[in-house]
Amino acid sequence: MNSEPDYHNTALKFADGDIPSGKMAWRSPSNIALVKYWGKKPVQIPQNPSISFTLSKSYSETEVSYSPAVSGSLEMEFYFDGQRNSVFEEKTANFFQSLSDVFPFVNQLKFIIRSQNTFPHSAGIASSASGMSVLAMILCDMERQLFSTLKNDVDFRRKASFIARLGSGSASRSVYGGLVIWGETEVVSGTSDLYGFPMNEEIHEIFTRYQDTILLVDAGEKKVSSRVGHGLMNSNPYAGERFKQAHENLSELLQAMRDGDTATFIRITESEALTLHAMMMTSQPYFLLMKPNTLQIIERIFTFREKTGLPVSFTLDAGPNVHMLYPAAIKAEVKQFIEDELVSFLSPLGFIDDEVGKGPEKIL
Ligand code: DP6
Repeated sequence: MNSEPDYHNTALKFADGDIPSGKMAWRSPSNIALVKYWGKKPVQIPQNPSISFTLSKSYSETEVSYSPAVSGSLEMEFYFDGQRNSVFEEKTANFFQSLSDVFPFVNQLKFIIRSQNTFPHSAGIASSASGMSVLAMILCDMERQLFSTLKNDVDFRRKASFIARLGSGSASRSVYGGLVIWGETEVVSGTSDLYGFPMNEEIHEIFTRYQDTILLVDAGEKKVSSRVGHGLMNSNPYAGERFKQAHENLSELLQAMRDGDTATFIRITESEALTLHAMMMTSQPYFLLMKPNTLQIIERIFTFREKTGLPVSFTLDAGPNVHMLYPAAIKAEVKQFIEDELVSFLSPLGFIDDEVGKGPEKIL
């Protein structure tokens, strides 16, 4: 177990009468897990290590204006897609409040937050990874600018990832581009349960430009919140074996990704996706999140792969949408495959052509 970095810092507070005003904005992407995080301990500690691709086109863009709080404690207005949103406002205010020991300055400010996602809100794509990581980037950037700390990018990112994790576990991985591990694994030194760890150096070139076409099967809201789903793992009879398997899968997957071994990549990522859903199906209460069209698409992918020999595979989130994964070199063939065989199974929202991305970006 890594020792917890001590981010409590009473010095990060403005002198009375010297509280600044300003504005900043960041964009931060979503990510898709290849080995899944499903099950956690307090406080936001994963039961097993996970690894994901950070995406490129599916991101949250958030602008924060801050000024002295007139009440003398944290004030907030939150606008999502231009509309004041009381649910996000309360969630974000609680999140900031919970960070009072790490960023004491939050209690001296009024925040006006404007946020939007590039992907449709109702598409069932996890927005907590992008939404929470973008807030973490902004809080750390405020600290950096206003208190001249976190000058070193490694320290800056690590703290941002630590903070993002407290907002949503998967968000800890969105702080970095490419392939990111969150959760301690003995096969990679430097990994931690407390923050994400970027893995890009040793990865075979084929995986550095991997594509993720997100096939939107059902536009409905998610039926099970992540919080509830993770909690159900505490009483799932297969949980212990699952956590052990995740360690083994991560180790084997990493080796495959160093070697450029797409066959092993496919075997492990597809098994991870089905195992995630098997965990939901074997919890009490149980959840069935795949839809008939999810299975139709998976069947078509199996057949297409068998027929063509092309390394196209799928993974799933905690929902019915299918993430189709493949190397950039076969984009044209896959596009044709979608048009010929898959579009009839999609919701009116269609699909999002995404790919591995570089991570968060400062825009203001
Ligand atoms: C199925 O990160 O959304 O997408 O920490 O409670 O916010 P919280 O959960 P969250 O869980 C993500 C679960 C997953 C798998 C993964 O991304 O690893």
